[in-house]
Amino acid sequence: METETIPAIETAPIERPPLPPVFQYPSAVPPSLITQGAEALLYRSTYLLPTLPCALKYRPPKPYRHPTLDLRLTKHRILSEARVLAKCRREGVPVPAVYALDETAGWLMIEWIEGEVVRIRLNEWLQQRKDEGIAEGVDDDRLVRLMERVGRAVGRMHAVGVVHGDLTTSNMMLRPGRHAGPDGDSAVGDVLAGDIVLIDFGLASQSTQDEDRAVDLYVLERAFGSTHPRAESLFKVVLGAYGKSFKGADVVLKRLEDVRMRGRKRSMLG
Ligand SMILES: Nc1ncnc2c1ncn2[C@@H]1O[C@H](COP(=O)(O)OP(=O)(O)OP(=O)(O)O)[C@@H](O)[C@H]1O
Ligand SMILES: [Mg+2]
Repeated sequence: METETIPAIETAPIERPPLPPVFQYPSAVPPSLITQGAEALLYRSTYLLPTLPCALKYRPPKPYRHPTLDLRLTKHRILSEARVLAKCRREGVPVPAVYALDETAGWLMIEWIEGEVVRIRLNEWLQQRKDEGIAEGVDDDRLVRLMERVGRAVGRMHAVGVVHGDLTTSNMMLRPGRHAGPDGDSAVGDVLAGDIVLIDFGLASQSTQDEDRAVDLYVLERAFGSTHPRAESLFKVVLGAYGKSFKGADVVLKRLEDVRMRGRKRSMLG
């Protein structure tokens, strides 16, 4: 069977709704589709200058939803994502900057983050280790340091009063930059190098409740466990760094134990 290729904007299937006018602006780089999630389409384009890449997140109308309700939901998602991103930026939490938005048309334009999502980088790393014949469970400094950066990033987000709502290794990116190889020199070949940038705040909200923070961690723990071997010991490193990242983090870690317990009970009841 032929593998499906991503259609260009002009040749998009007719059943897809017409794109908002922002996609037709005279831009040096026409928007190209990067991913199609359950709710949103993600395009790469440029903002103001042909040299300034941006990510354009478009939430098309859902034909199966009542139009009035659909519009309200879309507006709410876009405005709340933008609001939370702006707050994180202001407070120094590593997230993409907001460039522009039109909640009625259904799009949000944000800073393009170079690099790759953590899930893909972790899988690449696991594959490399396999290819090199290195046994699983052998401690690796770089992996431990990445987990610490994840814990610190989540801690900083929580510290400013934001909970993510969908913390997974697909919703955090590794941007090339500092945190290079062990000697501090260029990180060529080190797939785990880079700074953590948190993305996808469509389900985020503002909260300083221990419960909400603990549920955020629990979601990440579950996401980790299902995609990575050795997840348990790795996640301990994440939590260790998280615990040191803000005052009150240790209370959240205690609360996480309750959340886990409830999760286990629920799964026992089926
Ligand atoms: N600012 C960005 N820069 C570069 N790539 C991005 C950026 N934002 C998202 N991406 C890429 O696009 C993918 C999908 O984006 P995102 O997670 O925000 O959308 P989604 O999961 O489809 O949305 P939602 O869960 O809110 O419906 C990400 O996993 C990432 O690979
Ligand atoms: Mg996502």
